Amino acid sequence: MAASMFGMSAAKVERKPLPDPKLRETDPEKYWLRIRKEQFLLPDWRAFLNNGSLGVAPIPVLAAVEEFLEQAAALTSDEYPRWGYETLDPERTEMAEFLGCKKEELALTHCATEGISTVAMGLDLKAGDEVVMTDREHVSGQSPWRLREQRHGITVRVVKTPHPPKSSAELADLMIGAIGPKTRVLSFSGIISPTGTIMPVKEICAAARAKGVLTFIDGAHMNGQIPLKLSDLGCDFYAGSPHKWMFAPAGCGILYIREENLDRLWPSIVTGGWDDKTIGAARFMKLGTNNKATVVGMIAGLRFLKSLGPDNIYARIHDMAKRNYAMAAKRPHLQLLSSPDDRLYGALVTIGFKGANVDNLWKIARQRKIWVYGGAELRLSTHIHTRMSDLDAFYSLVDEVMLGKKS
Ligand SMILES: Cc1ncc(COP(=O)(O)O)c(C=O)c1O
Repeated sequence: MAASMFGMSAAKVERKPLPDPKLRETDPEKYWLRIRKEQFLLPDWRAFLNNGSLGVAPIPVLAAVEEFLEQAAALTSDEYPRWGYETLDPERTEMAEFLGCKKEELALTHCATEGISTVAMGLDLKAGDEVVMTDREHVSGQSPWRLREQRHGITVRVVKTPHPPKSSAELADLMIGAIGPKTRVLSFSGIISPTGTIMPVKEICAAARAKGVLTFIDGAHMNGQIPLKLSDLGCDFYAGSPHKWMFAPAGCGILYIREENLDRLWPSIVTGGWDDKTIGAARFMKLGTNNKATVVGMIAGLRFLKSLGPDNIYARIHDMAKRNYAMAAKRPHLQLLSSPDDRLYGALVTIGFKGANVDNLWKIARQRKIWVYGGAELRLSTHIHTRMSDLDAFYSLVDEVMLGKKS
């Protein structure tokens, strides 16, 4: 655990206020470096470029979790809050307001995987009904539908997508064009996990709706990475993972169920209250005893995000991604799977190595404490704690391994 590893407890380190926002305007590099240093437990030697897998919880979040657990352990009666039997109305209200949906449409889950599975298992689909997805879905986006394929004889059809795509319109045409007479659900990632490509969710959902087809958006990478208003997306279902881009501790998910679908979806894990339709999406949170400290941490993460300003965060992480893109683009030994049109990515940029064997790269990256995610394709994440020196260290390593020289 980071806190004990550095001999620090987040609840006990001195809590620093955020720097004066004027500094963000006058010297953004200094501002964001101070955020990293003062608001995270990240040591200087750690170059963390894999926020896309799991983000880093800042000090206020770690402190909220620790404090909650300590207070709960010191309770003298049985008032210990047991997420899993509660509807968590205040927390859902605050999260729903941020995500742009109604509290009644939002369930708090543990991760995107749980949300995707809940929807895939909970819809009445029969043999021959078709679900359409892209060829770049995360395993958690594919597996629940594959299970239903084997168990109930539904058909899963996969649409090949180009990376980099020429345009949003190209992606929209592909997905909309794939809708056939048996298609019941379009299920796809709003941001494609391996490449970071932003899908034209709104256009695809509107076209699907016009044809009576349900839409499920795997938003694991959307909330927190790009500006988002769920009610504007026009999808039927959405699952997200605030522990990637929203500073939440691991084990936090969200599931949005559009109001008109609340009664048609069956919950899969149930206890008392599962059939109480008056509580809206909260009946999908009736899972049995859970750890409320993670929910408390998730709300602390949301408040941290709001205190920095979602627009400021997006401006910074997208700017870092553009710099990252430029660093890759000027290296002829690399190829980019992200589009040159920066409207098609947020803070994830993916590169390939033009056929070179880079097995060594992972080993050396680990030795140098550079955290990256990938194999033949490599996805780099830039969040507010990312420094230019982290990107420099990564690209020097790539040059060294691929060209045998120090850059
Ligand atoms: C697009 C996508 N969907 C789903 C998941 C699964 O997320 P989680 O592990 O939070 O359930 C991921 C994780 O990386 C992802 O990238």
